[in-house]
Amino acid sequence: MTTQFDKIIHHKNTHSQKWDNMAACGVEAEDGLAMWVADMDFEPPQSVTDVLRAEIDQNIFGYYGHTDTVRAAVCDWMASRHGWKVEPDWLSFSHGVVAGLGILIEAFSKPGDGIVIFTPVYHAFARKIAAKGRKVVESEMPLEDGRYHMDLEALQDQLDGSESMLIFCSPHNPCGRLWTEAEIKALGAFCARNDLLLVSDEIHMDLVFQGAKHIPTGVAAPEITDRLVTVSAASKGFNIAGAETSFIIAQDTRLQGEILKAQASFGGTPNRFGMRMMEAAFEGGADWSDAVCAYLAENFRIFRDGVNAIPGLSVMDMDSTYLAWVDFSGTGMARQEFTDRVAKDARIAVNQGPSFGRGGESYLRFNFATRRALVEEAVDRLAQAFGDLQ
Ligand SMILES: Cc1ncc(COP(=O)(O)O)c(C=O)c1O
Repeated sequence: MTTQFDKIIHHKNTHSQKWDNMAACGVEAEDGLAMWVADMDFEPPQSVTDVLRAEIDQNIFGYYGHTDTVRAAVCDWMASRHGWKVEPDWLSFSHGVVAGLGILIEAFSKPGDGIVIFTPVYHAFARKIAAKGRKVVESEMPLEDGRYHMDLEALQDQLDGSESMLIFCSPHNPCGRLWTEAEIKALGAFCARNDLLLVSDEIHMDLVFQGAKHIPTGVAAPEITDRLVTVSAASKGFNIAGAETSFIIAQDTRLQGEILKAQASFGGTPNRFGMRMMEAAFEGGADWSDAVCAYLAENFRIFRDGVNAIPGLSVMDMDSTYLAWVDFSGTGMARQEFTDRVAKDARIAVNQGPSFGRGGESYLRFNFATRRALVEEAVDRLAQAFGDLQ
């Protein structure tokens, strides 16, 4: 059965970071497959396209103001989809989640402070921390039963008292792990014990396979409201990352005040189009969201089964996101060799494991949010590129 997500869309020459910059991954071939940057190759929900058309017809492109309707849309979505009753005045907005992280680092830490991340994790965390002159404290996650775990005991021994903040990725990128209520609660208690501000990046909250559940940190650990800030967006879940619009949730009024102070130095007026798109996505995108999650789950099944059938390659199980974490250690090859085979022989642009920090050395990250025919094509190309191992 073909679906709206099987539509052939030509992304090349559209200023697409994912499709037009594959040379950055060493893929120069005309028929390169872009499986790196975290965009989906799908059209967004109709409600998003409609609102942008209406903005164009209105032909008014001045500063955006009056945030009541977008606040209501975010709060309704968080309550109906994630069981979290967020009040409109807990929200502020930023130009993307990474920019939001920058604001929070500025607000709640000082140069030289340690900021903890659980690696392997989204590469911009470490980059942003370092760019702000803070120290990256990597807590490498051990694997148990093929899944990552936070090792809070080891982390406790690692802390030297200079740490003021911890950035948590939930759901986790890479590997698509959802955290349980018990794990999040334990993390909250850890932050309280060590006087750390907990920043919960939940940008992938809406990309969850059927039967699984994302639990917001604010729901799992309400007892740490005075040290919790959540950052999220409609950008990943609805494929509108170019809008560079996101929101920050802080229930505690002291935290809200500090965020506003830090925001003042960045310029707080939101992007008109991004705000309209986010509101439309949350208001009219529920059915689309269900459909895309079902499609992604099946893409994952095909990708995992196909790749796991290639000797030496192993895909980590996941129940969220579209970013598969593939271990090449079983090939026995040096890193350069397996990355070359993927980029040059299979002609697939991927993200390099080491960019996600400690623990990523033998991995590559594959984005399978593309039409199914291309997922199958990627599996075929990998089988050929590593065919001599069969
Ligand atoms: C965990 C995480 N946070 C933030 C971002 C990027 O957010 P933005 O583009 O809104 O800055 C990504 C993108 O993949 C991500 O995976």
